[in-house]
Amino acid sequence: MSKRIFFTGASGKAGRHAAAYLLAQGHQVLNADITSYPQAGLDYLKVDITDAAQVFSAMSAHINRDELRQTQWPPAYDAIVHFAAIPRILQASDIETYRVNVMGTYHVLEAAVKLGIRKIIFASSETVYGLCFSHGQPAPLGLPVTEEDMTRPMDSYAMSKVVNEETAKAFQRRTGFDIYGLRIGNVIEPDEYHLFEGFCETPEVRLYNAFNYIDARDLGQAVDLCVNRDGLGYEVFNVSNDTNSVDLNTDQIISRFYPDVPLKGDIAPDECLFSNRKLKETLGFAPRHNWHP
Ligand SMILES: NC(=O)c1ccc[n+]([C@@H]2O[C@H](COP(=O)([O-])OP(=O)(O)OC[C@H]3O[C@@H](n4cnc5c(N)ncnc54)[C@H](O)[C@@H]3O)[C@@H](O)[C@H]2O)c1
Repeated sequence: MSKRIFFTGASGKAGRHAAAYLLAQGHQVLNADITSYPQAGLDYLKVDITDAAQVFSAMSAHINRDELRQTQWPPAYDAIVHFAAIPRILQASDIETYRVNVMGTYHVLEAAVKLGIRKIIFASSETVYGLCFSHGQPAPLGLPVTEEDMTRPMDSYAMSKVVNEETAKAFQRRTGFDIYGLRIGNVIEPDEYHLFEGFCETPEVRLYNAFNYIDARDLGQAVDLCVNRDGLGYEVFNVSNDTNSVDLNTDQIISRFYPDVPLKGDIAPDECLFSNRKLKETLGFAPRHNWHP
């Protein structure tokens, strides 16, 4: 069924593909972003998520001029997809990264629940596990990395994502609405597949992502599955493709890079070490874009 979706950050690397996927499923999507990225069928509104008034105003406005002609009062959005953020450290100062991500997310969540929007999907990150932007050689606490693992951020970006998860949990507790967090892996766009050659030549560069990747189009599928599944309350899901990002099998990766990391159970020969099992089992996620044949 077609849903009316307010999507923050759909001009970005991940959002533009996820929005395209949602449009292809027949949804109506508004891109709320400070920069525009024109896409056929995608409505756009310039919104700064660090300004609560702009967020509230945009979320309660018409999606486009056609809708304005049809209804005097715009209907409530069916779902919010919140991706807008500073997506890593060392892009802005640490304090700015934290401010934009934490306050922006608070504004989006507060406006959404106060407007009675019962489905919110927000971008969290693989970094909550302390892998990506930590000092030294990061090793997971156990393999595969699963949603039950302790979060242990060390940097302002990962901290902001952990705080956002707590904020989302609190709003969900108060309202009973559905709020789902996506712990997104390393996003790869369709025109970035050439990168895998380098990953295979120097696999150690992928230690920082526990060797995962997620094709941006499959991330769109994960978002759509969340849009369509009601009643889960608060949940977080790792989002990764089925396989690892290098041409080593799982045993080879473990013996070479993680000899001392405890294994939590059986892992299939090519199974991603950043586990997407929960997403597959709960929502039927079935990634379609693998980097190797
Ligand atoms: N790229 C990855 O590998 C990755 C991995 C894990 C999680 N994530 C998360 O996924 C989301 C999207 O990441 P991305 O890679 O597409 O990043 P991106 O920087 O390409 O896109 C982010 C978008 O947010 C917008 N934005 C930034 N500040 C804003 C503000 N104040 N108000 C409104 N819009 C603002 C930007 O204009 C941009 O279009 C982010 O929340 C990021 O933290 C990304």
